[in-house]
Amino acid sequence: MKSVSLSIDGKKITAKEGTKILRAALENDIYIANLCAIKDKAEPNAACRLCFVEIEGEEEPVTACTREATDGMVVNTRGERALELARTGFELLMASHPVDCANCPANGVCELQKIAKHIGGKLKTKRFRQLLRELPIDDSNPLFTYDPNKCVLCGRCVWVCRQRKETALLGFAHRGFKRVVTTFAGEPIGAERCLDCSACVEVCPTRALAFKGGEKGLGYRGWVV
Ligand code: SF4
Ligand code: SF4
Ligand code: FES
Repeated sequence: MKSVSLSIDGKKITAKEGTKILRAALENDIYIANLCAIKDKAEPNAACRLCFVEIEGEEEPVTACTREATDGMVVNTRGERALELARTGFELLMASHPVDCANCPANGVCELQKIAKHIGGKLKTKRFRQLLRELPIDDSNPLFTYDPNKCVLCGRCVWVCRQRKETALLGFAHRGFKRVVTTFAGEPIGAERCLDCSACVEVCPTRALAFKGGEKGLGYRGWVV
């Protein structure tokens, strides 16, 4: 397959033709904030709106997970217009997130903390009105818990679970503020149909899905670099 050469933040890289900017950057150790990208998934979810970058010659920032890298492209991941869009998206997301890092199993490995630092965004935002969901924690699975309040609706767990095809358990229910990850039948996450593969826990960026006993798991398979 043909490859393309481009520059990201001044670093010259090559990527297979058709590769999206986000993948090209992350594979070359250049971090771009993202929550909904999955390493094993070729097509982007394009749901989190955090991965904005600027491209030389273009007026508006673009989402790096949806735009293909092309030959001669010059990408800037640190442009102020792109970062401001990412900060707005991030702080909107955080307006419905119960921030209590000191008492959270994700503290120190949380992708939200990493993103806040990277884009100069705030975990506790004053920009938007706080609207918390206050949903019950599901403790029914022997291996892990599910705290829907910490969920950022990135969709990673749903995608990995759906790779099991007919035995898939997780999906989204409702729209807008009420949107939530749930089992298809609304049954507890410890239901018999759950194969306890823990793939969903491994990809969760916030520990909304968290191993009991605080195990760190086998390592995220999301796009953490
Ligand atoms: S998920 Fe991350 S940001 Fe949220 S409380 Fe836990 S450590 Fe803090
Ligand atoms: S439970 Fe975790 S992986 Fe699943 S959508 Fe929520 S934040 Fe993403
Ligand atoms: S990674 Fe691009 S929108 Fe989520």
